Amino acid sequence: IHVDWDAVTAEKGGFEHFMLKEIHEQPKAYRDTMRGRIDESGKKVVLPELKLTADQIKNIRNIQIIACGTAYHAGLVGRSAIESLVRIPVETDVASEYRYRSPIVTPETLVIVVSQSGETADTLAAMREAKANGAHVLAITNVVGSSIARDADDVIVTLAGPEIAVASTKAYTSQLIAFYLLALYLAEVRGTQTPEAVAQIVAAMQALPEQVESMLAKPDAIKAYAEHISKHEHLFFIGRGLDYAVAQEGSLKLKEISYIHSEAYAAGELKHGTLALIEEGIPVIALATQEAVLEKTVSNIKEVNARGADIMAITHEENVAGLLKSVDQAFAIPKTLPLLTPALSVVPLQLLSYYASLARGNDVDKPRNLAKSVTVE
Ligand code: G6P
Repeated sequence: IHVDWDAVTAEKGGFEHFMLKEIHEQPKAYRDTMRGRIDESGKKVVLPELKLTADQIKNIRNIQIIACGTAYHAGLVGRSAIESLVRIPVETDVASEYRYRSPIVTPETLVIVVSQSGETADTLAAMREAKANGAHVLAITNVVGSSIARDADDVIVTLAGPEIAVASTKAYTSQLIAFYLLALYLAEVRGTQTPEAVAQIVAAMQALPEQVESMLAKPDAIKAYAEHISKHEHLFFIGRGLDYAVAQEGSLKLKEISYIHSEAYAAGELKHGTLALIEEGIPVIALATQEAVLEKTVSNIKEVNARGADIMAITHEENVAGLLKSVDQAFAIPKTLPLLTPALSVVPLQLLSYYASLARGNDVDKPRNLAKSVTVE
């Protein structure tokens, strides 16, 4: 027998594209990023790699998260995790804005830079600016020997493994895991959460890999929906709170590889302008996973439904029947704690972009005009 073989095909490990392979590597990336950072009792987070002392942690007055692209979107989730668990004020900014806005930094400021490659020029420059102003800089990166890792005071390495596809998937979700671990660790040191609350979140985190696997095993509904939207040129994502953060990542992913124009909107902000663009048949993807604001999101869904939008909701099983009164279809994701939901809800959006790009005949792994790592300003 003759077997066709080449190095690239072998590296794709049986998947048609690196992106699909990397989407499927997420359960492993979650486990690897958590490994060694949860103590043996399974109830506490330990970050032995940090030089940041307990005293320094207790003195932190504010946190600034800086990143570009997908890493910035991870930083939006990071802000929620730290603010809700640790109650320290956090700002998340894109590096190219941060570096030119004379940010207010003091020695009590912790700056967190997030970068898959550790080489992004804007992020590196923003980090140097923060360091020059006296901040302690902690990097969350996927590349141990990178420029950002070398220049930072502290590093949390995401163990996603090499990411080849330009559109980031497993690096993003590993960054979320890193943020959850960091937020829990800060909460432990500052005593802002009870040991029971920490243990509950840790247990829920450990269930995430299997929950991702369960979604990856059933891609057909998302694939069919991707083929449907691939015929459209404009689309909207809406959501509130963490759903809005994930909506922004979903929208970026779709733009990057399918070239469909899409916008992510905070659901409550739609009526202040963008609603004018909603017309008969326009696809709207509504993320409705955050129970605390579910009713509010549903009323925004009704606003777009009334204008004839073609709505797909991403929600939990128990909300599907109710939502189907106002949406055309609903996709249920497994249930976890609201704070951890982005680590699950982004997965169908990654698959959606992948299949939409495929349906349009695009080069999934190497989209036009984009580079995996942007080392120039
Ligand atoms: C490029 C990539 C994006 C990535 C961004 C930041 O634009 O195409 O996928 O999110 O850079 O990269 P970094 O390596 O700093 O996370």
